[in-house]
Amino acid sequence: MSRRRDGLIIAMDGPAGVGKSTVGGLVAKSLGYRFINTGEMYRALTWKALERGVDLDDHDAVLAFAKGLNWEFKPIEEGGVALKTFLDGEPVTSQIREERVSVNSSRVAANPGVRKLLSRFQRDLGERGAIVMEGRDITTHVFPDADVKIYLDASPEERAGRRYKQLKASGQDADRGAILAAILKRDLSDLKREINPLKQAQDALVIDSTRLTMRQVADRILRRVRREAKHGRS
Ligand code: DC
Repeated sequence: MSRRRDGLIIAMDGPAGVGKSTVGGLVAKSLGYRFINTGEMYRALTWKALERGVDLDDHDAVLAFAKGLNWEFKPIEEGGVALKTFLDGEPVTSQIREERVSVNSSRVAANPGVRKLLSRFQRDLGERGAIVMEGRDITTHVFPDADVKIYLDASPEERAGRRYKQLKASGQDADRGAILAAILKRDLSDLKREINPLKQAQDALVIDSTRLTMRQVADRILRRVRREAKHGRS
């Protein structure tokens, strides 16, 4: 019997703003798999802790707070592939994109107890397979034995440019220089984090998406998945 009953585990890591969610969603949809953006878990906890006035640098307090919440991961709409974080019965969606959450989530992501707790949720979700999971430590720490591992990269300038266009297209003000500075700052905190920093797994397929569309990246991953499904280990 297959080690993972429902399908493969596809793990994806890479820096902020590289398109992991868009690509991960496309891949999951093509395969009929579930998709989860694990950054949303860190963001959800950051948002809730900020709301409640928990001191984000007090690791014990943040962990106790996290453990006291009721966590669920499920699609918001019927038949959706993306599993969203629900805290105490409520979906946490647009709130987690607030600037204060983006800025403060790295403090929560540096908390070893929180990383352990969220990694456990992520392993539970992936246990049966048939999942695409993206984050910063999925290929290296959460699922080092994933069936397919992808490291998605793009230059900081390209990532900033994409974000700039997204903001402009949605009618918001945008400052290209400030966006680039924020991206470089987030890269630094992801790469230099003491516990489970962002790094390329040795056996990951590295894809530089600087000159590719999201669809082209997804197709490249799907080719790898088909190969793995044919010759795979599970
Ligand atoms: O991908 P994102 O920017 O939405 O992630 C939010 C925060 O969570 C960011 O500080 C990186 C961190 N993160 C992490 O440490 N490990 C993960 N697996 C996913 C995200």
